Amino acid sequence: MSLRVIVLGSAAGGGFPQWNCRCPVCALAWDGDSRVKRRTQSSIAIETGSGRWTLFNASPDLRSQILATPRLQPTGLRETPIRSVVLTNGDVDHIDGLITLRERSPLTVYATKQISEVLDANSIFGVLAPDMVSRRVVELGQTITIDDARIEFFAVPGKAPLYLETENLKIGDSSGDTIGVDVRKDGERLVYIPGCAVVNDDVLARVDGADVLLFDGTVFEDDEMQRAGVGVKTGRRMGHVPLSGEGGSMGAFDGVKIGRKIYIHINNTNPILIEGSPERRAVEAKGWEVSEDGLGIVAGARHAEVRGSTAA
Ligand code: MLT
Ligand code: MN
Ligand code: ZN
Repeated sequence: MSLRVIVLGSAAGGGFPQWNCRCPVCALAWDGDSRVKRRTQSSIAIETGSGRWTLFNASPDLRSQILATPRLQPTGLRETPIRSVVLTNGDVDHIDGLITLRERSPLTVYATKQISEVLDANSIFGVLAPDMVSRRVVELGQTITIDDARIEFFAVPGKAPLYLETENLKIGDSSGDTIGVDVRKDGERLVYIPGCAVVNDDVLARVDGADVLLFDGTVFEDDEMQRAGVGVKTGRRMGHVPLSGEGGSMGAFDGVKIGRKIYIHINNTNPILIEGSPERRAVEAKGWEVSEDGLGIVAGARHAEVRGSTAA
């Protein structure tokens, strides 16, 4: 046995290409350029028990992600390998897919108090029948057991979801609006941090010794969205540390012992999406991989096909 992971969606909110965007990177995808691959929105699945999978975030693209992933498909009359969902923030790209999981299958949703309150405050999530879908509120620093995996929730610098931003918005506090998870199974360890506003000493200490790090790859340059003419916010303002520049994530983990460093939650403006681009080569030269949908990861192994070719 080992720790097996499938990247279901490697893009940030909006996906790649985004429905309303012809920024230079999206344009390549719309035009079918072979240097880019389409990507769905942010989620991974981990095999927490034999044939039992836990979703980490539930994206608006969840249904198409299940269609593309035999291992997540139904195994019997109203039986599914998906038994649990862990949420790392309350952003639309991470919770909208919960609505896809209605239809009366037993599930447990794990979230921090803040994220759980977001679900409670939005009555549409009541569609998840409470007699079938249970909610577990997890404290920061708490370790839970799902099947054979031990999963620790930890705060990372982040911010409240976009639709809950107020004038008093605090960016970069570690209050539990945004978390990472540290997953251990069969002696292997994966740390998943799809959103992070700053790589501080706490984050560095947290990922030390991990076999695999999946980390926030939203924007290459902090002002990339402004430069592309698609928005006014910087990456940092959105709660996402850029890859490059002062404090950028690309070099921030230098000297920290990590088996594989893989970018995930990649925004459609980010030129690392273009194979062979200078930015893609720069991250690769720093030892980073760029995830794509369907990427199978077996902690400890270099290459793996885990999405599955049958429903077995
Ligand atoms: C983010 O990661 O910053 C959010 O997903 C943005 C959004 O809600 O669209
Ligand atoms: Mn997002
Ligand atoms: Zn775009």
